[in-house]
Amino acid sequence: MPKDEQEFVVTPWEVRGEIDYEKLIRDFGTSLITDELLERIKKYTGELHPLLKRKIFFSHRDLGWILDRYEEGEKFFLYTGRGPSGHTHLGHLVPWIFTKYLQDKFDVELYFQMTDDEKFLHDPKLNLDDTAAYAYENALDVIACGFDPKKTFIFIDTEYAKTLYKIATQFAKHVTFSTVKAAFGFDVSTNIGLIFFPSIQAAPCFFPSVLKGKNIPCLIPAAIDQSVYWRVARDVAPKLNFYKPAEIHSKFFPSLMKGGKMSASEPESAIFTVDSPELAERKIMNAFTGGQATIKEQMEKGGNPDICPIYHYYKILFEWDEKKLAEIYESCKGGCLICGDDKQKLAERVGSFLIEHQKKRDRAKDVIEDFILRD
Ligand code: TYM
Repeated sequence: MPKDEQEFVVTPWEVRGEIDYEKLIRDFGTSLITDELLERIKKYTGELHPLLKRKIFFSHRDLGWILDRYEEGEKFFLYTGRGPSGHTHLGHLVPWIFTKYLQDKFDVELYFQMTDDEKFLHDPKLNLDDTAAYAYENALDVIACGFDPKKTFIFIDTEYAKTLYKIATQFAKHVTFSTVKAAFGFDVSTNIGLIFFPSIQAAPCFFPSVLKGKNIPCLIPAAIDQSVYWRVARDVAPKLNFYKPAEIHSKFFPSLMKGGKMSASEPESAIFTVDSPELAERKIMNAFTGGQATIKEQMEKGGNPDICPIYHYYKILFEWDEKKLAEIYESCKGGCLICGDDKQKLAERVGSFLIEHQKKRDRAKDVIEDFILRD
């Protein structure tokens, strides 16, 4: 990955700069989701989800193969996860909302990993009790997305170790330090927990196959930052006689500040699901925009929605009507939309969303055990 400040960086632990997604596809060796593939998905889903239509989910590996298997009557399972280093933000919800849509449309199981070990190993400030506590907090957000309790299995690495460890160990035997060094940028000062960890994140690609005693195709919806894990998982899978996991990747929910993604480590860049509507409003009103410096200039020259996080909020989560989204885009570009008004409207929508989500989150506390997988 480039070290130059001008360039962008995308790793599982750091996303920085203006991201060139086409270059990422080339660098990571993934494929663009074509219109032909979208038509194939539409056969099973009816309407396409706005996140697909708008190419927020834009890249994949082996999605066509997953559909081939499905057409032949071989159901896949979904696998996604969260590194519980803090509260959930709206960016994390993007892959989960999309995963829920896939679960509904294809009627499939979801295995959801909470990597409390990864976040403990990576962040010097966190201890294992912190990360396990956040795993339970984050699970409430997952459940609040509406997943089917009979088909959704959430597991926390340190608590589900008996099952995970055996598969991770078999996996690890096929991965050298040289491979993870090249893939993840590890060096001799990296702690050995992190060096082993990729095998823990790979294990769930396979354990439903182990649990059920037959090979089951796996589809992973996540943002593209996680794809390096699956590159290693796909190399090893055939050596263990498993299918290679397939992937579908999203772009990032942007930071409220200039450039980069919404990130938990920069609280002003992000809206957390536990934020009050008032706090969310304050963050939105302070956000960077694609607008001009003054109202006069905005009306004369128009704004630039393409670089504006406020516009992207609408595009990704808060305006799913195509016509209304196009109106926001055009009126921003044409200078009729003033940033302050646009922000205020968005703050109201985000506030209502948070109130609803927080109610569902509270209700999730009563049913959390129905979702947790234990061994
Ligand atoms: P984590 O906790 O960094 O992120 C959880 C999920 O959210 C995605 N994501 C985003 N998506 C859109 N916009 C953003 N700004 C944004 N920030 C994060 C991530 O891609 C991820 O899908 N190691 C993982 C945990 C994990 C996992 C998995 C993730 C374990 N198994 C399988 C995906 C699939 C992690 O720390 O995710």
